[in-house]
Amino acid sequence: MRVKKNGKEMKKRILTGDRPTGPLHIGTYVGSLEKRVRLQEEYDCFFIIADYQVLTDHLKETKKTEYFIKQVLLDWLSAGLDPEKSSFFIQSQIPEIAELTMYFSMMVTLARLQRNPTVKEEMKAAGVKGTSYGFLGYPISQAADILIVRSDLVPVGEDQLPHVEQTREIARKFNGIFREVFPVPEALVGNVARLSGLDGHKMGKSNDNAIYLKDTATEVRQKVGMAITDPARIKASEKGHPDICNVYKYHLAFNKAEAPDIENDCRNGRVGCVACKKNVAEKINTFLVPIRERRAFFEARPSIIKEALKGGYERTLKESRETLSLVREAMHFDYRDLLNGEKIVAG
Ligand code: TRP
Repeated sequence: MRVKKNGKEMKKRILTGDRPTGPLHIGTYVGSLEKRVRLQEEYDCFFIIADYQVLTDHLKETKKTEYFIKQVLLDWLSAGLDPEKSSFFIQSQIPEIAELTMYFSMMVTLARLQRNPTVKEEMKAAGVKGTSYGFLGYPISQAADILIVRSDLVPVGEDQLPHVEQTREIARKFNGIFREVFPVPEALVGNVARLSGLDGHKMGKSNDNAIYLKDTATEVRQKVGMAITDPARIKASEKGHPDICNVYKYHLAFNKAEAPDIENDCRNGRVGCVACKKNVAEKINTFLVPIRERRAFFEARPSIIKEALKGGYERTLKESRETLSLVREAMHFDYRDLLNGEKIVAG
């Protein structure tokens, strides 16, 4: 978990984060937050709220961004991310990221960007006619998020792997052309299967198909009650197919102990979807109880959020400035001689 940097033993660095396009949901918890809570004990963690990325497909909804940033911060805090251990920051508050994005954008071909499967899918989902330059290029900005703090590891879901791969290529390219400034970061992919949404599609913060960490017990019951289950089963007495059932995935995540029995009962038509949903809704609610308690605590104390952002911002800014000074020096972009009035010889 430790690396040597400048002769000093340091904790390995981690950067990961979320786009503030909605409150975080139980799928993010299972796939990511839970792991972050553990990682922050052993690593030097930076958690980014990626507001630039909101512009890719929510350009006309920026009015909501501040509210969602607050929700994401509350979600992080209530899930157990700790600003005393980790650095929280908002992407656009660190202009160094935009500068680094500019340099990196010269190192990636258009064809390479167009091949990114995640971007392709997102462009299709957003239905944007004539995709913007920024949308196509956001993986470059994400590489800058990661490399601005010279992160070693990037815990992400599988959909983000193409972006980490792109980041690795950029780091290698920069180091090769100029000088070794960046680590080549590695992705840490969770082995938890992603939860699907209530409608059977990918659970998304802004897809209207998510159970949010901030949902009340009643909301959870209502949402699970309306969830799509096994599409091949019409009557409760028929045999079910847990392998293609959404709600069964929730059992696997939140009701591990009973899951094998439920699988069995469902396959043999001994349990109907209504009872099965009621059961798992209660398990999800039990899981959310401590998260809801912490949320109420932090909601009543906005100064904690303010201080968390301040501390994270200062730390990230310091690291980012250091990175950029290394970058500018490596690229011969610091113009020291010129600025100091020295004689300049042709390079
Ligand atoms: N693209 C990520 C998402 O949609 C969010 C993100 C932005 C991110 N910058 C990052 C994730 C850097 C990991 C590292 O979830």
